[in-house]
Amino acid sequence: MTDIPELGLPQVRIAHPEHVTEVIQNIIKDGCDKLQVTADFDFTLTKFKANGTRCAGTHNVLEEGHVLPEFYKEEARALRDHYFPIETNPNLTIEEKIPIMVEWWTKAHDLFAKCDMKKDDVRVMVENSTAKLRDGCTWFFDQLHANEIPLLIFSAGIGDVIIEVIKHQATLHDNMKIVSNYLEYDAQGNMTGFQDDLIHVFNKNEGAIHDSDYFQNVEHRNNVILMGDSLGDLHMADGAIGVKNKLTIGFLNVKVEESLELYMKKYDIVIIEDETWNVANAILRKVLQNRTRESQ
Ligand code: TMP
Ligand code: MG
Repeated sequence: MTDIPELGLPQVRIAHPEHVTEVIQNIIKDGCDKLQVTADFDFTLTKFKANGTRCAGTHNVLEEGHVLPEFYKEEARALRDHYFPIETNPNLTIEEKIPIMVEWWTKAHDLFAKCDMKKDDVRVMVENSTAKLRDGCTWFFDQLHANEIPLLIFSAGIGDVIIEVIKHQATLHDNMKIVSNYLEYDAQGNMTGFQDDLIHVFNKNEGAIHDSDYFQNVEHRNNVILMGDSLGDLHMADGAIGVKNKLTIGFLNVKVEESLELYMKKYDIVIIEDETWNVANAILRKVLQNRTRESQ
């Protein structure tokens, strides 16, 4: 394996070590100027658990605290208890899951739109929430920014919440592009629903980002590091052009025993129940060291 000790940790699983070594070596050799990064947000950039307790995803942030009414919290929780086990069930195909996920997102968003929410409420809810960026994300964000490496955050969560979490716990940099479900407000700052087409966990291969000029603008960056926690996340960079080296890193947070084999088939590197960003940071550190060496 490459001289990256983090890849040898017991919670890090790699089905094809030679392939992964080669891809990482190519990415390191080509350096920052050829690299682009795509990451999912909920339970990829954020923790699934902290001190043994579940952390909030961007939707769950709205269920915490005292801002939104009890009826919303109860119903949103009931929806999640029903639909999340279906999302993560390894015995169902993505095709089988898609209509069920559309149903979940539609019900959750309709329910949310019934709440009397103001623009400023999101910031307050995030400040009091259990949503937590993984340990080490701040360093990763700062280094990508300092070295002008673009970061696409592609999320089926809520964009307004993502922005507040990053502002609150790290720095929102201008090399970050956040594609997600954004709230819509009227002129008085009252929330009226969601903008644009719905993004759910399994339609990340479609939609605005692939049709926009985002991937065209980073066309010269032939190396992609992609990170996600759902199998749908593997399609987040489908619109990337001229990709030569793609490294996929998957966080397996639940149903580890049943899903490990499938995740190892689909993701180059699988990280099991680990709440840190250490593996991604170790790889990025090597890319950056190479730049330092080249400039000496
Ligand atoms: P992601 O694409 O950023 O990971 O966001 C999607 C996650 O949000 C997915 O794991 C399911 C979760 N979710 C909730 O927890 N509650 C909800 O109401 C909805 C619609 C999604
Ligand atoms: Mg996720």
